[in-house]
Amino acid sequence: MSGSFDGKTLVLSGGSRGIGKAIIYGFAKEGCNIAFTYNKNEEEADKIAKDLEQSFKIKARYYPLDILEPDNYKELFKRIDEDFDRVDFFISNAIISGRSVVGGFAPFMRLKPKGLNNIYTATVLSFVVGAQEATKRIEKVGGGSIISLSSTGNIVYTPNYAGHGNSKAAVEVMVKYAAAELGEKGIRVNAVSGGPIDTDALKAFPNYEEVKREVEKRSSLNRMGEAEDLVGACLYLCGDGASWMSGQTIIIDGGTSFK
Ligand SMILES: NC(=O)c1ccc[n+]([C@@H]2O[C@H](COP(=O)([O-])OP(=O)(O)OC[C@H]3O[C@@H](n4cnc5c(N)ncnc54)[C@H](OP(=O)(O)O)[C@@H]3O)[C@@H](O)[C@H]2O)c1
Repeated sequence: MSGSFDGKTLVLSGGSRGIGKAIIYGFAKEGCNIAFTYNKNEEEADKIAKDLEQSFKIKARYYPLDILEPDNYKELFKRIDEDFDRVDFFISNAIISGRSVVGGFAPFMRLKPKGLNNIYTATVLSFVVGAQEATKRIEKVGGGSIISLSSTGNIVYTPNYAGHGNSKAAVEVMVKYAAAELGEKGIRVNAVSGGPIDTDALKAFPNYEEVKREVEKRSSLNRMGEAEDLVGACLYLCGDGASWMSGQTIIIDGGTSFK
């Protein structure tokens, strides 16, 4: 991995907690500069940026973003251009929860178009606009890597997860199309799909304790996933070792999808 990240820049959505936070720490540790977004937790984003700069001697900046308005990515990247002289990697990680997923995070008979549309917008349309803006920068430095987070809720039944599972399936297909067309620019596009990971997003499940018990039982490793468990795949996909890897989904699920 050495040499792959020094002085390069990762742009990641949703770095203020959970999996996104773990990923930016993983990249900063390798010498990568970090531009990350938050939605509500500005104070936490500020703390994280300061800690990253102090601990790893890299440049870290944070920006507000609402993935329910995918076109906001255009303004975001203009601001990033003012702070960073290059973009090498883009990871679409942020996800919505709370009021905006009402009617999307529900049993099938209670699904509503508005909630489902919100999840689709936040997952797929945001990935598209973010990846387009990233591509314009990444091609200027001769290539790089784009990743969308995904989840095994599109291959394993997960209660209330129809909206998310369906949009994650869609984003994995979008990743393949992007990969097919961006390869000529030296850009590889992949997805990292996680089994249930112990973050705020999962704690928002009404049956969190039940899901946790079930995951621990199903996992051949007898535990829930932690945010840090997805970092290695992201580093791999952005590193030189993945030079011929594109259009794929790497599944990291502690063995849960097979049991
Ligand atoms: N947790 C799991 O079990 C699991 C499993 C597999 C894959 N994943 C995927 O991994 C990714 C990260 O999930 P997570 O569990 O780390 O989520 P999380 O803990 O809920 O964190 C969500 C992140 O997205 C940001 N965010 C929330 N609403 C937003 C909005 N409207 N616009 C822009 N940003 C917004 C949050 O910012 P603030 O902190 O400022 O609110 C936060 O940084 C998601 O794509 C998720 O689907 C999760």
